[in-house]
Amino acid sequence: MNPALTKIGAQMSNLTGVRAIMKDIIETLRAGAGKEFINLSAGNPLILPEVEQLWRDCTAQLLASSEYGEVVCRYGSSQGYGPLIEAIADDFNKRYGLKLSDRNILITPGSQSLYFYAANAFGGYTQSGQLKEIVLPLSPDYTGYGGVCLFPEALIAYKPTLDIDFTAHRFKYRPDFNQLSITEKTGCVIFSRPSNPTGNVLSEEEVKKIAALAANYGVPVLIDSAYAPPFPALNFTEMEPVFGDNIIHCMSLSKVGLPGERIGIAIGDEKLINALECFQTNLCIHPSRYGQAIAARAINSGALVEISQKVIRSFYQNKFKILESTLDAAMPKNLPWFLHRGEGAIFAWLWLQDLPVTDWEFYQKLKRVGVIVVPGSTFSRVCRMNGITNSNVCGLALPVVMRKLPLLCNVWQK
Ligand SMILES: Cc1ncc(COP(=O)(O)O)c(C=O)c1O
Repeated sequence: MNPALTKIGAQMSNLTGVRAIMKDIIETLRAGAGKEFINLSAGNPLILPEVEQLWRDCTAQLLASSEYGEVVCRYGSSQGYGPLIEAIADDFNKRYGLKLSDRNILITPGSQSLYFYAANAFGGYTQSGQLKEIVLPLSPDYTGYGGVCLFPEALIAYKPTLDIDFTAHRFKYRPDFNQLSITEKTGCVIFSRPSNPTGNVLSEEEVKKIAALAANYGVPVLIDSAYAPPFPALNFTEMEPVFGDNIIHCMSLSKVGLPGERIGIAIGDEKLINALECFQTNLCIHPSRYGQAIAARAINSGALVEISQKVIRSFYQNKFKILESTLDAAMPKNLPWFLHRGEGAIFAWLWLQDLPVTDWEFYQKLKRVGVIVVPGSTFSRVCRMNGITNSNVCGLALPVVMRKLPLLCNVWQK
């Protein structure tokens, strides 16, 4: 049966960004059954033994405690499970000298849902019919933002400026403050730090500048810290979270081994948190509490931060180093290829300047030799882009198997 979809129903049936290309990748893998593919496209975080053990231990403690029945057999507060909220408030107050109370924290079923609430609570049409924009100050950014607003026309992204090191074949994106416009038309600002897909980390100064521009108009700024310290601590360069009156610090436990449990965390001003909490109550009452209960234990014991810094960070940082040295060895010095500086997260972003074919054609050619990447334009198709074309950019996702990288170079040269 073909259901008669509403406008929103039809729009929500469309997959955006990497999710859209995943369909083609899955079909390629199925059609090539038996053929060996090196899949460098979007993937799951890997299961690291120490991380899995942490969650097994926390689960065993929960099962043995009298708390278990309360956690799984009863409804709870829409804001999230009390012991987890308390654990986060205590940890952040001590670690960053904050004065958070439980009213400053909201737990959501994954951080993706948090962006959905925010994009629709702050972006879209006001009661008087004015369109409030959702501003992505530096694109490319996480493609998951592409589908979050019920009014896609609200989403607007800005082209970055480039710092290029020609000799080292490296580059770095920076927000273009000459273009970036945050005004009374802005509903909220969202960016990831460290960034998916580029591995960029906006400097503290850049973050404060964006937050100050937004504060002039009372606009909330959501800093997507899915890869940031204190957990999963997937920063390979020095960085500290930035807090402020109009900043909603957003976290995820997906990259510390709990993607299946769906836990997102928002920290911010009480009124902003309350608006998001009401959205959540209407949508799903509250997130599942089992994952929250084991996370509370891992935060209180200090194990989550320790494993993040000692195991998770070094594992992915090492992968990036291998990728860098492999590219440096395999790619020709005389061609204009540039790898984005790996400042954090679990991806690598490669810019092939003057590529004679589109990124989509390059993607198809690579598939024919058994290598799957994510074409860069996937990231600019998610929203209005203020003129950016990055069809010669290929995002390569980590974790990777490096031995086919020379093939990438051969295909490029042909
Ligand atoms: C930057 C960024 N934000 C948000 C998400 C969504 O994470 P979650 O599993 O918490 O919904 C991801 C997932 O990969 C991500 O990379």
